[in-house]
Amino acid sequence: MKNVGFIGWRGMVGSVLMQRMVEEHDFNAIRPVFFSTSQLGQPAPAFGNHTGGTLQDAYSLEALKALDIIVTCQGGDYTNEIYPKLRESGWQGYWIDAASSLRMKDDAIIVLDPVNQHVITEGLNKGVKTFVGGNCTVSLMLMSLGGLFAEDLVEWVSVATYQAASGGGARHMRELLAQMGALHHYVADELANPASAILDIERKVTALARNGDLPVDNFGVPLAGSLIPWIDKQLENGQSREEWKGQAETNKILNTPSLIPVDGLCVRIGALRCHSQAFTIKLKKDVSISSIETLLAAHNPWAKVVPNDRDITMRELTPAAVTGTLSTPVGRLRKLNMGNDFLSAFTVGDQLLWGAAEPLRRLLRQLA
Ligand code: HSE
Repeated sequence: MKNVGFIGWRGMVGSVLMQRMVEEHDFNAIRPVFFSTSQLGQPAPAFGNHTGGTLQDAYSLEALKALDIIVTCQGGDYTNEIYPKLRESGWQGYWIDAASSLRMKDDAIIVLDPVNQHVITEGLNKGVKTFVGGNCTVSLMLMSLGGLFAEDLVEWVSVATYQAASGGGARHMRELLAQMGALHHYVADELANPASAILDIERKVTALARNGDLPVDNFGVPLAGSLIPWIDKQLENGQSREEWKGQAETNKILNTPSLIPVDGLCVRIGALRCHSQAFTIKLKKDVSISSIETLLAAHNPWAKVVPNDRDITMRELTPAAVTGTLSTPVGRLRKLNMGNDFLSAFTVGDQLLWGAAEPLRRLLRQLA
């Protein structure tokens, strides 16, 4: 059995990873060692059949070097500090990382096995030891639309995202809910009175959103009742860093022989943990909608095709319906007015599952 160290297992992505590993009995296949950046010596958690032991020091190179596999959800700062030192020390183990720091390195593979198992297998055969989870919107797009890419049908992709608060982190989710609560509280009396005027209520809500009294430490501006058309850093070419990742990571995950252009606008909205995306896809040729539906549904067990029907779409293709599930549905499939080789699609996926923890869990399972 392999010795597997876990760092950042208590955070949001780490907790989802632990929960999924328990559900899939993954702990039976490994010897886990739990690390902490602050609470070393305290009792280690009990997951699966493993109990006892204490938390190890996440900054101890000696302790880390004893491991066959390290799984970190601790974040980019930790990776940037520890990973180079560990590799320089000669450590040859497998590093599995949720953070983006190492994603674009030549000797790292972005893992999403239902989409790029061939890339993973080839990398393992060549001795690649560093595996990183992809950006959540990219992974979720490829889970839902994998069938089109696998058949080499995609000439380019234009996307508008609707990204949940969880993509920012746990504190962002709390802040969104606090903003929602504050807005409601501010007009609760008027709302309870059916005779009150809705535009008076709206004016009060808007005034509160603008007067600086809402909590905005994490988002910087109100998100509840609004949206934020910028995610991550500003790049010199006018893209946000999140938008830049779309093309860079898609092509790296698929190991495309020639570049598939992917670009669009990334937008934060008031969903909790599901990212949605609206696509315009330029196909390389005219393919019927029924063939497209068949391709998409057959690509992997999670890419469920939602018929382009109003009632079914409203019930099944929403964050509320998908949150907490591994399903990555795709719907609103139709040809656009621009021509028969222009396809519209809408996808939804849980940002913490296929968008973060699940690809890491499945890679660990392969290695163990
Ligand atoms: N960058 C993403 C977001 C997180 O902010 O929604 C998932 O990689």
